[in-house]
Amino acid sequence: MIRGDIKALAAYHVPDSSGLIKLDAMENPFTMPADLRKKWMSRLETVDINRYPDAEMYALRQKIAKHEGVEPEQVLLGNGSDEIIQMLLIANVPGTCVIPGPTFVMYNLVSQWLKRPVATVPLAEDFTLKDEHFLQVCAREKAEIAFLACPNNPTGNLWSQERVEKIARGFGGLLVIDEAYGPFSERTHNYLITSNVMVLKTFSKVGWAGLRLGYLLGDAEVIAQVNKVRMPYNINALTQASADFLIDHFDLFEKQAAVIRDERERMAEALAEIDGIQVFPSQANFLLVRVEDANAVFEALKQAGILIKNMHGADRLLVNCLRITIGTEDENNAVLAALREILI
Ligand SMILES: Cc1ncc(COP(=O)(O)O)c(C=O)c1O
Repeated sequence: MIRGDIKALAAYHVPDSSGLIKLDAMENPFTMPADLRKKWMSRLETVDINRYPDAEMYALRQKIAKHEGVEPEQVLLGNGSDEIIQMLLIANVPGTCVIPGPTFVMYNLVSQWLKRPVATVPLAEDFTLKDEHFLQVCAREKAEIAFLACPNNPTGNLWSQERVEKIARGFGGLLVIDEAYGPFSERTHNYLITSNVMVLKTFSKVGWAGLRLGYLLGDAEVIAQVNKVRMPYNINALTQASADFLIDHFDLFEKQAAVIRDERERMAEALAEIDGIQVFPSQANFLLVRVEDANAVFEALKQAGILIKNMHGADRLLVNCLRITIGTEDENNAVLAALREILI
């Protein structure tokens, strides 16, 4: 009844975080100020949930287009950017998907669901992108699609502009530049959009993870084709109304992102001062660190009431690595205090 290869897969595991300081999923730790929350609630009161949501979402796409400096026809909305990754892998010509390794797991996982072959090109030991090798593998595999997360998850680094541009120019298939962590990094790649280069974004990391809203920017003709495999009404009415309201208050979320960037720099310096921790450069809202025994440190942090992500075992390059989402100042201080205690 169920495909054998699906039975062999492990389900995407979300650990129980109840009672713990949650620094495992790159969420924005700040909630909304009470007055804004109240206005948001009044806006939601106007939504008639007896009706299906707006199917084409033109007004919302227009608002996002303005926010991004593109045309509304260049915007496609997804139930999180995860759903857009799935739409792209459905709509793209069957063929190999090329990804760097390690990178965001969903590119590989969704390819497997759809029986699409995946070729992984290992990053260098310092997590830089081997652009020449990447293009060679794309050519060898006659790849139809490739994903570059800029900045990359779980490594946190942003590959050099020159290398990303080289792949954008040299790859003939569909290149998806995933900017989930764009709000915390120094550049965006909207300027690279062509008929075969698309940019994927999400509101999850800036503070709306619970709304599930991601978007794809691309050439209008390609967007229209990918739109054909979008589920009808994929963005629910409450999310649409919320996003329409919240984009008008985006400066607040930009300020929060700036605080997170400052905290990231403070954490990177403080962690590097602790004996036994190697901190990797990050342009995202998390830090990847290496310790001597990641399993032990992960468990000890959990005992101390802090949930992070243990990356040990996920990839050859991630030996003894832990991924720590940047939280509030107090949460970050709790991490520092716990690690100082654990690693003495
Ligand atoms: C690189 C990258 N892309 C996309 C996503 C998915 O984000 P969402 O589906 O919440 O928009 C994530 C989530 O962690 C990510 O790390």
